[in-house]
Amino acid sequence: MPENEPTAPSLENLLHETRAFPPSAAFAAQANAQPSMYEDAKADRLGFWADQARELVSWERPFTQTLDWSGAPVAKWFADGTLNAAYNAVDRHVEAGHGDRVAIHFEGEPGDTRTVTYADLQREVSRAANALAALGVTKGDRVVIYLPMLVESVVAMLACARIGAPHSVVFGGFSADALRSRIADAEAKVVVTADGGYRRGAPSALKPAVDAALAPKDGEPATTVEHVLVVRRTEQDVEWTEGRDVWWHEAVAAADDVHEPVWVDAEHPLFILYTSGTTGKPKGILHTTGGYLTQCASTHKNVFDLKAESDVYWCTADIGWVTGHSYVVYGPLTNGATQVLYEGTPDTPHRGRWWELVEKYQVSILYTAPTAIRTCMKWGEDIPAGFDLSSLRVLGSVGEPINPEAWMWYRRVVGGDTTPVVDTWWQTETGAIMISPLPGVTATKPGSAQVALPGIAADVVDDEAHSVPDGGGGYLVLSEPWPAMLRGIWGDLQRFKDTYWSRFEGLYFAGDGAKKDEDGDIWLLGRVDDVMNVSGHRLSTTEIESALVSHDIVAEAAVVGAADETTGQAVVAFVILRGEHAERAGTPDGAAQVQEELRSHVAKEIGPIAKPRRILVVAELPKTRSGKIMRRLLRDVAENRAVGDATTLADSSVMDLISAGLATNKPGSED
Ligand code: PRX
Repeated sequence: MPENEPTAPSLENLLHETRAFPPSAAFAAQANAQPSMYEDAKADRLGFWADQARELVSWERPFTQTLDWSGAPVAKWFADGTLNAAYNAVDRHVEAGHGDRVAIHFEGEPGDTRTVTYADLQREVSRAANALAALGVTKGDRVVIYLPMLVESVVAMLACARIGAPHSVVFGGFSADALRSRIADAEAKVVVTADGGYRRGAPSALKPAVDAALAPKDGEPATTVEHVLVVRRTEQDVEWTEGRDVWWHEAVAAADDVHEPVWVDAEHPLFILYTSGTTGKPKGILHTTGGYLTQCASTHKNVFDLKAESDVYWCTADIGWVTGHSYVVYGPLTNGATQVLYEGTPDTPHRGRWWELVEKYQVSILYTAPTAIRTCMKWGEDIPAGFDLSSLRVLGSVGEPINPEAWMWYRRVVGGDTTPVVDTWWQTETGAIMISPLPGVTATKPGSAQVALPGIAADVVDDEAHSVPDGGGGYLVLSEPWPAMLRGIWGDLQRFKDTYWSRFEGLYFAGDGAKKDEDGDIWLLGRVDDVMNVSGHRLSTTEIESALVSHDIVAEAAVVGAADETTGQAVVAFVILRGEHAERAGTPDGAAQVQEELRSHVAKEIGPIAKPRRILVVAELPKTRSGKIMRRLLRDVAENRAVGDATTLADSSVMDLISAGLATNKPGSED
């Protein structure tokens, strides 16, 4: 194992809790997934995906070739086919006579609602596509979307897809600086944003961050953005740049509600989504159209057992993350599902808000993150018990390892002890679910994502890339190309190869540690690189370190993810301060001041989600003789454990100093 070995609970602890829940006969009898799918895909993997692509996606020109892997590691799937993702997500359902079916039950945080049918969606997306075209957006142009969870967010993404303009959604919680660097990297032509959104009972602003992100800055090239399309949500006053800024409700309302989709090649870029890697610079993960749509639709149908005519589906993820892309927008809509879209937080105006929504809309499939489940556990089971949750029939989990206790609570309290729970492992890079039980087929195990889906080849290997035997641990790899795989890092093919394909010859290295149990089932154990997972959000230690050292008072910084009961991991920073600031931090008031200054600085540089939970001021950092920071030891300190083997340190007294110095450091406020 490398220096950053996984921090998740040991396999022994996990297995201690293990019980398998076989599917009920009734569920199995009506399930979309069938055991034969594994056999079929094993016998003819490409044939399996070609069938899925033909069955679940509409093609303008059918493909004749399934996979071209000659340019490995850049795959081409269904390359000679043409299609349009928005047509697949919207128009074809209207053409099939389902125009009156509800696509989206929108619920705003203040309680306002909006019901959008597939026919409504077709008109809205067409109008928005015409409005974008009128602003000069054409096939291939990039559009950045910086919006809260609104119907317009889904419409904006689909409008881009409709004209073949790759979108790049930036999570609304990222700062102006983070937005600026993403806009610059993607060389976006248009930004779609809102005046703001509702969060925790109050309007919060978004437009000012866009204004700041687009403002001229010394030493940086002028922005490529020509227009900003602004959704009015909160009626807040906004600064207005004449000629650049355009109101959505004016431009879109005035546009024609008929628009001919632009047919694109299967390999045409659908979107770029930035995610944190092991370096300071976020990576623009590139996804294309045909393969991505195929795997999103196939997994959404089979992993959640979707029955489009009768189910009400709800994925709580924000569209700013990949889960929102694949399982709010492209998967469910391609399958013609009816879904709930909720703008706000689970505890506004009360801690039963989610369960109230499940009852109100009769949600039958719920997909959320372990961190949310653990938060609800903390609030107490009498809260969900106050609502009728009997409509639920499948529960999904994503984003981080789910501990068996949370899994069991989810099944028992939310699922009435009958619903299958599917723990789904995947990544921004994989585009769609890769490892998960199939409800109706797999006997589920609390805490394990278990098996690669049909048509997916996953394995756990040791340092020499050898598959580990059952009962062994190592690194998770993917050994065959899959339809929704990333096609690269925007503008940086070499970084794509280095990051994912250089660790093990011919294998995709996911960055996760994993183990196989005695049945061969896979248990995910957390990242083995410098990526943290805080509340299911992916953050880079290096990126936060860069943010910290960009502050004048910081000489050096090291960041670790410390285990946290609710959020999975929490950001803990160790900093060496410059000159007199080190003395300032020596007093209780000064220490609190320094903490706040640095936390706000990280929020400004990256976003509030990246703010360290604790900042510890230290005189030295533990480094190896080659100068590498030993984060493992810092994690021991951050988790209040005895410090592990420090023999490779250049100066072994450093850890004593750090541990001794902790008494003078107060933890920061929690938020
Ligand atoms: O470490 C794994 C963890 O989240 C990482 C991917 O993060 P991101 O690209 O932001 O995508 C999150 C949503 C798909 C993975 O490398 N992860 C995701 N799902 C699971 C998980 N870890 C354990 N179990 C999961 N089900």
